[in-house]
Amino acid sequence: MHHDDTDDTDGTENTGTGVEKGVIGVVGAGTMGVGIAQCLAEAGHRVVAVDPGESALATAPARLRDGIRLARMVRKAPGAVPMDRALAAVAWTARLEDLAGARFVVDCAPERIPLKEKLFRDLDQVCPPDAVLATGTSAIPVERLAARTRRPERVLGMHFMNPAPMKEAVEVVRGPRTSEATLDTALALLAGLGKQGIVVADGPGFVSNRVLMLTVNEAATVVQQGTADPATVDRIFEQCFGHTMGPLATGDLIGLDTIVDTLYVLLECTGDERFHPCEELRRLVTAGHLGRKTGRGFHRYRGAEKGVARGR
Ligand SMILES: NC(=O)c1ccc[n+]([C@@H]2O[C@H](COP(=O)([O-])OP(=O)(O)OC[C@H]3O[C@@H](n4cnc5c(N)ncnc54)[C@H](O)[C@@H]3O)[C@@H](O)[C@H]2O)c1
Repeated sequence: MHHDDTDDTDGTENTGTGVEKGVIGVVGAGTMGVGIAQCLAEAGHRVVAVDPGESALATAPARLRDGIRLARMVRKAPGAVPMDRALAAVAWTARLEDLAGARFVVDCAPERIPLKEKLFRDLDQVCPPDAVLATGTSAIPVERLAARTRRPERVLGMHFMNPAPMKEAVEVVRGPRTSEATLDTALALLAGLGKQGIVVADGPGFVSNRVLMLTVNEAATVVQQGTADPATVDRIFEQCFGHTMGPLATGDLIGLDTIVDTLYVLLECTGDERFHPCEELRRLVTAGHLGRKTGRGFHRYRGAEKGVARGR
C-alpha cells in the first residue's frame, strides 16, 4: 500500500466538524467504493481502499480520475482539493490489514450476506476498537452485521446512492444498538462531504430499497408479460409521473446483478415472495446484460458506463 504523499498534514487535522481528517477505509473498489472514495478524497480525507479483486484494483485509479473529472465538469466548480492531491489521497490495497489505522470504515463489498458477515468479523479484528464501521449495504439489516462484531454500538448503515459524488443526501440507518455518538460522527462526516444524512430505523431494505426493489422487479415483470417494452414502461414514469428516471433505467444504473442480489437479500430477510427476482431480471443477468456498466441492460448505452445517452 502506498499513499503518494505530497500532502504535508499528519493525517489528524481537525475539520472543525468534529470529524478528524484521519484515514478512512473503504472496502470494495467497485461502483460505490470508488464513488465514495472520491467524495472523501475531494473533501480532504486520506483514504485506504481495499479490494481483493485484481482487475478492480488495477482499474480503480483511472475510474477515480474519470469520476473527479466528470464531477468537476458537471458541478462547474473546482472541488475543495486540487485534482492531483485528491488522487494521491487514496491508497489502493488488497490487504484488509492495511485498515489497522482507520478511524472510520465504509463497506462497499458485494451484496451477499455471508460475505458481509465475514467482512464485519474481520474488520472488527483489524480496525482500532474505537473505529466506526459503516455498511453501504442496499438491504441487509445493520444489526445482522453489527452482531458479528464486539462493537455493535459503533456499527451503522450509510446507504449512499449511485453516483455517490452527485447525490446530496444519504440514507443513514440506525441499528438497534447504534449509539448516539456513532450517529453523530457519521452525520458530521457526511456534512463535511456536503451531504445530508436522512436517518431511518433498521430493517431489510430500510426505506429506499424496500420500495425501489419491488418497483424494479414489478416493472421487469410487466416487460416479461408483454404489457409494454422497457422504453414505454420508463416513459410512463418519466412523462406521466415526472420522475427523472424510470424504474428500468434506474435498475440499469444500479446494475441488474446488484438488483438481483438485493432482491435475494430482501427475500431471505423478509420471507416475502414478492421479492423473488422475476425471470426477466434473472435472464438479463445470466446473459451478462447488467445495465450501464456493460453497455446493455433493459436499455442500450453508448460508450458503456460513461455514456449517458440511452437508446430507446
Ligand atoms: N450500485 C449501486 O447503485 C449501489 C447503490 C447503493 C448501495 N450499493 C451497495 O454497495 C455495495 C457495493 O455495490 P457496488 O455496486 O459497488 O458493487 P460492485 O460489484 O461494483 O463492486 C464490489 C467490489 O467489491 C469487491 N469485493 C469482492 N469481494 C470482496 C471482499 N471480500 N472484500 C472487499 N471487496 C470485495 C469486488 O472486487 C468489487 O470490486 C453493495 O452492498 C451494494 O448493494 C450499490
